[in-house]
Amino acid sequence: MVAVGYKIRDGLPVDSERGRELAERGRLETALARKEMPGIAELVAEYGEKKPLLGARIAGCLHLTVETAVLVTALRSLGASVRWCSCNVFSTEDHAAAYLASEGFPVFAWKGMSEKEYWECIADTVSISPDLIIDDGGDMTKYVLDQGIAVKGVAEETTTGVRLLKQRESLPFPAIAVNDLITKSQFDNRYGCRESLLAGLMQGSGMMIGGKVAVVAGYGDVGRGCVEALSGLGARVVVTEIDPIAAYRAVMEGFEVMTMDEAALIGDLFITATGCVSVIEGRHLEMMKDGALLANIGHFDWEIDVSYLMKNPDIERVNIKPLVDKFAWRGRDKCLLLLGEGRLVNLSLASGHPSFVMSNSFCGQILAMLELWKGGYSPGVHKLPRLLDEKIARLHLKPLGAKLTTLTRKQAEYLGVSIEGPFKT
Ligand code: NAD
Ligand code: ADE
Repeated sequence: MVAVGYKIRDGLPVDSERGRELAERGRLETALARKEMPGIAELVAEYGEKKPLLGARIAGCLHLTVETAVLVTALRSLGASVRWCSCNVFSTEDHAAAYLASEGFPVFAWKGMSEKEYWECIADTVSISPDLIIDDGGDMTKYVLDQGIAVKGVAEETTTGVRLLKQRESLPFPAIAVNDLITKSQFDNRYGCRESLLAGLMQGSGMMIGGKVAVVAGYGDVGRGCVEALSGLGARVVVTEIDPIAAYRAVMEGFEVMTMDEAALIGDLFITATGCVSVIEGRHLEMMKDGALLANIGHFDWEIDVSYLMKNPDIERVNIKPLVDKFAWRGRDKCLLLLGEGRLVNLSLASGHPSFVMSNSFCGQILAMLELWKGGYSPGVHKLPRLLDEKIARLHLKPLGAKLTTLTRKQAEYLGVSIEGPFKT
């Protein structure tokens, strides 16, 4: 895929006509997003004047969308200096990157970069020795660890990144698992994907979803969101799972559970949402029906064996439009449609989750930055306290018009909790 007209590097002024146009579109779309991100506005109003992040150099590696631009500008209002790159080669919204560059942020991101450029952008972003890192998927964290760059702390956005942090025997710094906030994992991963999956699928193909057999691999937070969206449109949903509890939940919620070897024969569309590797392998691709659609929504592009399709001499690749490819078996009446080259479909073909749910996730990031900058956390992986999770939920309830009940003293004593929370441990 060809990069758009220009690259944004080192915060150079966006001085071409195309650059100015993109930056203006980014400014307008970021302003729209900001209006839908009430939690961020509240945190900036609460902490902004005190500039609690003054002096902090933050490096971010997270999908550069207009919602991320809202996060980046909020971190600056809290006193931090911020540099950014994206955590996926296809997820940058060039107008968001151009807007940030025009505001003087050093930005290293464009849609459709190569894998080599991706790692160069990470290197550029951390070249000033950041104090704090906001990561999504663990690539920037891996880079600073491999290069021996010392940081004060890391906040990790997603399930896969948190798993990678926990798998390390030791860490030289504290890391906050932002993903593990309930207001993140059970909202962004589930309700976010419930909406952004469909945006990606519809952008990528004209396939009608109602009546089709949709196979969803993984029934965690993301998988459940996908299943809700697909079944809501009338798809007949099949789930594959390795965890008996998740599989049991899928059955109790009315879905068929089977292995991929069985599902491959009957599915019309396949969505991988596991964060695992080799979920759809070559043999499954061989079994699939003519015309089946394939998409991944998990963090890395290792869930579908894309190289089986790309490197097989018996299969011809026909590019239909950017990030939509048909793979046709030579001499057979069979083709499969692959979206986003197997990278997260909601961010490569669409613009990711809606702003409102990203307000949750990014409140978690801001609170994690405040905690890490304040200090006092030991090396290793930490969760933010439950009270902060409840705070994020509160910030988003009011704009939705919900009215929360306050415990009476008698009720609080009976339950053995404080009137202000936390209400669960
Ligand atoms: P999760 O741990 O809640 O769920 C994953 C599920 O997949 C689990 O139930 C697990 O048992 C199951 N699973 C694992 N290996 C499997 C296999 N081989 N076959 C079938 N099922 C398998 O994780 P999650 O929060 O749902 O996240 C899933 C992935 O999506 C992660 O990579 C995460 O980082 C990513 N994610 C993407 C987005 C997005 O916007 N695209 C948003 C949030 C998370
Ligand atoms: N992850 C999922 N959706 C996103 C968005 N809109 N912005 C940044 N990261 C995301």
